[in-house]
Amino acid sequence: MNPLAAELNAALAGHNPHAEEMLSDLGHELYFPKGILSQTAEAKAKAHKFNVTIGIATENGAPMYLPCIHKHFAGFPPNQLYSYAPPAGKPELRALWREKLLRENPSLEGKTFSLPVVISALTHGLSIVGDLFVNPGDILVAPDQMWGNYRLIYAVRNRGQFRCYPFFNAQGGFNAEGLRTTLLELAAAQGKAVVLLNFPNNPTGYTPTEAEGEAIVEAVRAAAQAGCNVVTVCDDAYFGLFYEDSLKESLFGRLAGLHPRVLAVKVDGATKEEFVWGFRTGFITFATGSAEAGAEEALAALEKKAMGSIRATISNAAHPSQTLLLEALKDPDFAKEKEEKFQVLKERALEVKRVLAANEKFREVWEAYPFNSGYFMCLKLKNANAEALRLHLLENYGVGTIAVNATDLRVTFSCIAKEDIAELFELLYQGAVTLER
Ligand SMILES: Cc1ncc(COP(=O)(O)O)c(C=O)c1O
Repeated sequence: MNPLAAELNAALAGHNPHAEEMLSDLGHELYFPKGILSQTAEAKAKAHKFNVTIGIATENGAPMYLPCIHKHFAGFPPNQLYSYAPPAGKPELRALWREKLLRENPSLEGKTFSLPVVISALTHGLSIVGDLFVNPGDILVAPDQMWGNYRLIYAVRNRGQFRCYPFFNAQGGFNAEGLRTTLLELAAAQGKAVVLLNFPNNPTGYTPTEAEGEAIVEAVRAAAQAGCNVVTVCDDAYFGLFYEDSLKESLFGRLAGLHPRVLAVKVDGATKEEFVWGFRTGFITFATGSAEAGAEEALAALEKKAMGSIRATISNAAHPSQTLLLEALKDPDFAKEKEEKFQVLKERALEVKRVLAANEKFREVWEAYPFNSGYFMCLKLKNANAEALRLHLLENYGVGTIAVNATDLRVTFSCIAKEDIAELFELLYQGAVTLER
């Protein structure tokens, strides 16, 4: 093992041995090399005469660039765009995102958590979680309604195994009891679990209520008290799009510092929150489960391991998108413009609810799952097969939907104008009725 990796492991273990136990084999081995990047950083501070360390081309003291590219970035200095961003991301952006987390998640107040590390959006962050914490055979606990890419990341890439529980309970609320039972079984059998928590959820569009949120936290605490090491992963891709009476903050705030056996990870980003999907800018943030001595060093060790994973895969996240996001976060119009877009999406969600409630006939062919947030809602088909209906809608009505499984059809209301929603659902209904005939 590289001595730098051993140092990071010791910093984690010295602070909280359970946090160190939760690392995968790869997670144990990861470190951030001192090589070229740290020599470059030293030279940046001290090489007054000539600095010939940086792996870019320069001209007149700034990165070289092509005017045909730069003409699209009028107003931005070349060194904010073309040079590599620091491996953990632009420091000011990291600091501002941390402030944003504190502002938007009151439960984080007084909690010990890391500086967010910039990633190439959430998928990348979820893969870093896999690198750091998932060994072949480790169990991932997730609801049956989950983003399909989790399987590719954690089962295919990391060779973990999924243990799924039903998302909804009989009352149409979040099935925290299912999570609790699954975790307590694992506590006895396995001693480790990686829990995926994604709210607002893809594909259902559901975020738990305050009481359900508390029940989730209690389920995690009960497993930890029963001796299970729990890595909780809050996938907050759709954070902030809470339209009704649900939790309005990330569970990360309540899971941070919950128990020494609970290591909390938050993966979030600008892709969906700031409507810049293609910018590929996100953040990964850690809380080690304990505020005891050495917490800062332990968090720094996790940051370094994440940076090691970044260095080994993408090297660093794109610089122009970080610069633009940073400008947006500092812009006096940021909050107002975000609120306007939030209202547009909320109106669409409420219009879907109105259309569903206004059409008694819809209940012959489907039942809508509860939804209160995010981009999506799902229909549980009563008779039709979801894939057959999807194809039927596409071929005969020119309507594209997603078949989530045999019975459930996902509708992304974030990408349809409010005035078209009634017609969309009428076509879905017509499709289901004609297919059933
Ligand atoms: C639940 C969930 N997590 C993560 C992602 C990936 O987001 P990103 O585009 O930031 O990688 C998605 C995107 O569809 C998602 O639905």
